[in-house]
Amino acid sequence: MSSPEPIKFTDGAAYERFMAPWSRSAGTLFLDWLATGPGLAWVDVGSGNGAFTELLLAKSAPSSVCAIDPSDAQIATARQKLSAKQVELSIGDAMALPYDANRFDVAVMALVLFFVPDPRKGVSEMIRVTKPGGMIASYTWDVMRGGTPPQPVWEELDAMGKPSARPPSADISRFAALKALWAELGIRDVETRELVVERTFADFDDYWLSMVVSSPSGVVGNLSDGEKAELKRRLQDRLPASAKGEITVHAWATAIKGRKVA
Ligand SMILES: C[S@@+](CC[C@H](N)C(=O)[O-])C[C@H]1O[C@@H](n2cnc3c(N)ncnc32)[C@H](O)[C@@H]1O
Repeated sequence: MSSPEPIKFTDGAAYERFMAPWSRSAGTLFLDWLATGPGLAWVDVGSGNGAFTELLLAKSAPSSVCAIDPSDAQIATARQKLSAKQVELSIGDAMALPYDANRFDVAVMALVLFFVPDPRKGVSEMIRVTKPGGMIASYTWDVMRGGTPPQPVWEELDAMGKPSARPPSADISRFAALKALWAELGIRDVETRELVVERTFADFDDYWLSMVVSSPSGVVGNLSDGEKAELKRRLQDRLPASAKGEITVHAWATAIKGRKVA
């Protein structure tokens, strides 16, 4: 069995087809649950192509947003869609945020913490840049319990002996691991929530384009034409279509929020 390449987000337009619709559904539930007031200074760590940043601008009425991601391709796409004056986009890493201490009211990671090589360091950085009493929050797909949108693709590739890369810090998606980390780092008033979402694809071709062809490098890997045909056949057998031919897939995420000691 060959070992998979790590997942890399190198195409902001492909991310729009693959994950952005999922990010918008789960991000809506996440932001409703955070229930922050308007006029706050936010940092959006691992902002990707701006799908979640756009949502938080629309729903949470921030005074400012610093959005940061290590992928220049993701940031380039975000630049095209985010023209709001109050958004500052940067290329950078969650493990070493280029911001002064005690700057933000709210620090968030949306679908990011499980990609951060050392989640403890990443959350410590969010705490450092947040004001005392400010909010530190994150959500990730529930990878360990099968809640990730590409789970059907992963499982079929596993069965074919062509395993797909998983997020490198997937263990942090467990509620127990999240709660332990937030407690260890002294975050107060901690609450958790499961976020359940679904996405309906117009037909199997739409599913294939969105969840396989547009997936980031490392997910599908270098399949031969024959292997692609086998994956297609397996997914068609596995995913029931409605009378109209639509395919609906569910996913769920683990979310956590708390406050920096005042
Ligand atoms: C699934 S996307 C989420 C993007 C966006 N937050 C959203 O909800 O649509 C994961 C993002 O994490 C970014 N990422 C990966 N490693 C990171 C790190 N060490 N620090 C910050 N972001 C990282 C990737 O470049 C990618 O854009």
